[in-house]
Formats: sequence, C-alpha cells, structure tokens
Amino acid sequence: MKKRNDWKGVINEYIDFLPLDKKGSFITLLEGNTHLIFSEKLSKKFNLNVYYKFEGLNPTGSFKDRGMCVVISKMIQDGYNAVICASTGNTAASCAAYSAKGNLKSFVLIPEGKIALGKLSQSIIHGAKVIEVKGNFDDALKIVKEVTTLFKIGLVNSINPFRIEGQKTGAFEIVDELNESPDYIFIPVGNGGNITSYWKGFKEYFNIKRIDKLPKMYGWQAEGAAPIVLGKVVENPETFATAIRIGNPARWKDVLNAVQESNGKIDMVSDEKIREAYEILAFEEGIFCEPSSAASLAGLIKANERGEIKKGSTVVLILTGHGLKDPDSATKSSNKNLIKIDKNLKSAIEYFEEVEKVERKNSY
Ligand SMILES: Cc1ncc(COP(=O)(O)O)c(C=O)c1O
Repeated sequence: MKKRNDWKGVINEYIDFLPLDKKGSFITLLEGNTHLIFSEKLSKKFNLNVYYKFEGLNPTGSFKDRGMCVVISKMIQDGYNAVICASTGNTAASCAAYSAKGNLKSFVLIPEGKIALGKLSQSIIHGAKVIEVKGNFDDALKIVKEVTTLFKIGLVNSINPFRIEGQKTGAFEIVDELNESPDYIFIPVGNGGNITSYWKGFKEYFNIKRIDKLPKMYGWQAEGAAPIVLGKVVENPETFATAIRIGNPARWKDVLNAVQESNGKIDMVSDEKIREAYEILAFEEGIFCEPSSAASLAGLIKANERGEIKKGSTVVLILTGHGLKDPDSATKSSNKNLIKIDKNLKSAIEYFEEVEKVERKNSY
C-alpha cells in the first residue's frame, strides 16, 4: 500500500481501535505515517527482507507522539488541566508539545544531567516545567506516581494504558504497508511500553483477521541496563543509549509476555555494538537515528550471527527516535570526519590531493 498524503494523524486514522470518546475533541500534530524504509544492503548481506520503521519522523522526532496524542486527548476529555511524566527525554518532549497544543500545563521530571540536549531543549521551548531529579529515571517515576495520588495532575507515562493504545498504531501501519505481518520485529526496550504496544497492535489485527500470522518480538536492552535479561533490578543502570537507561522497567511483565507469547526473545547488546550499529545506520544507510534506536540493528546483527533468524524472513527494525535529538553522541562518533584547514586554497589542495587522494581534472 502507498503512504498516504491525506493522513489525519493516528487517532483519526485508527479511531475504531482506540478507546476514546469519538465525539470528543482530539489533539493531533498529524503523527504517524512514518516511513518504512527497505534496506537493500542489509537484505542482501543477511539474505533477509529488512525494513526500518523510522519513528524519528514523527512530529517531535520519536515514537512517543503516537501514544501522547491519545493520552493527552483522553486527559482533556476527562477534564484535566495539567499532566506530568518522568522521562529519559523523548516522553518529556512529546508531552510538552502535545500539552502546548492542548493548552495543558505540563511537568516533566528528568534524571539530572542524563538527557540528550535536543530533548531537553524541546521540553523547554514547548513550555513544560522541567524538573531535574538528583537520581535516575526510576527515582523520577516513583516521585511522579506519588505526586499524581496527591494532586489532580494526569500521569502520561506508558504505565497509562492510553499510551499503549496510541503506540500500537505503529504495528497497524507496518501491516497496512506490507499487507501482511512481518516475521520479526526488532525493537529497543527501556520501560517496555513500546514492545507491549506493538505486540498488542499485531494481536488486534490478527484477531480481526487482517493478518494470518504474528511476528516474533525481539526486544533489546543495553548491557549496562538490562534488568529483564538479567532477571533482577539494576540499581545504577548505565549506557550511552540514554533513552533506554532503565533499571526497573515499568512494563517488565508485559515485555516477558510479548516475548513469550510471540516466541521471540529479550536479549542485550553492548554499548560498543550499539555504537557500531548507530554508525552503520548513519554511514551506510543514510539514516540518522538516536543511539537507543540502534539497539534494534545491533540486535539483528547479534541474532543473525547466532543463526537465529530464518533466511528469507521479513524483519522490521523499529528506529524509535531521530538522531538530531542527541547531537553530542553524533559528533563524538564521527569527529574523525571533522577536518580543519587554513584559510587558503593551498591547504585545501593538500587535503584533497594528499589525504583524500582525489584525482585532478585533465584540464589542470
Ligand atoms: C528513542 C527511544 N528508544 C527506545 C525507548 C524505549 O521505549 P520503552 O520505554 O517503551 O521500552 C525510548 C523510551 O524513552 C526512547 O526514547
């Protein structure tokens, strides 16, 4: 199926699958309808059909917008004036933007010094009150949960089921475009809201017979923040993929459920492998995603090396956020590509001739 030019946002497109009051007003920034990009290179290399679902193309640059439009609409329908979330950055940015559109006050709690610059600047410019917590995401979420028992402020983290409802539309879009279910989904896992959502979406399409098979869900945590893989809470999670720096995932059980029901897997990849995948995506595929998103590809490389993926299968990698969110990671990765020369042609000629070994034109 072709992508649509008259797209109306995930609520209007999939309202029959969403538990919102159809007569109520909806907040949308026309999220969803993101590209499903076929990878000629990886497909050939691995003997698979590999696609990237590039969720960085959502309005605030991450998949969070799918769930945020739904939960913010629900909050407004329920008469809330203010919302709150804990965040590693993307939820905060999305919450801030949709709250701005919906005239809600928003409060976002972030782990001090641990969120990428782009996400912080988005949250600030959209008018959220950004509250830095001297602790990690898990500490921030604990506070948020307690605050919402004391004040009339709506909780918009993915423990709110309306977030899951919105995010499941990513699965619908994949099927609507491929016209069948893929065989595998590779997806980064932090709190586990997204893998839970995708699995719910595929099951709903299966139940109405829109698809006749279900994909295997392969979730990937970072080695320094892999509580589900290790089977125990990680007190001080660490990874350069800050969006998945989670030590006690809110949707732990749902992640296990998605993986077990689908006959999939939850596994981990090292920061080194995530960085390599991040660079492959940028240098070889022309796709700039954020480090956490690259855990999907690092996972595919690992699973493929182990011979776990059946040749000829269709695999969709969920690239959850845009690389511009985290410019520091990009410049650290690629500063070998940052060249300095003196302000004269001689320096430029030396560079092209001696370093790059570019051929001269015949006429010179
Ligand atoms: C870019 C990115 N990737 C992956 C994740 C993990 O998603 P989840 O917490 O739903 O597992 C997040 C969550 O913040 C994210 O921002």
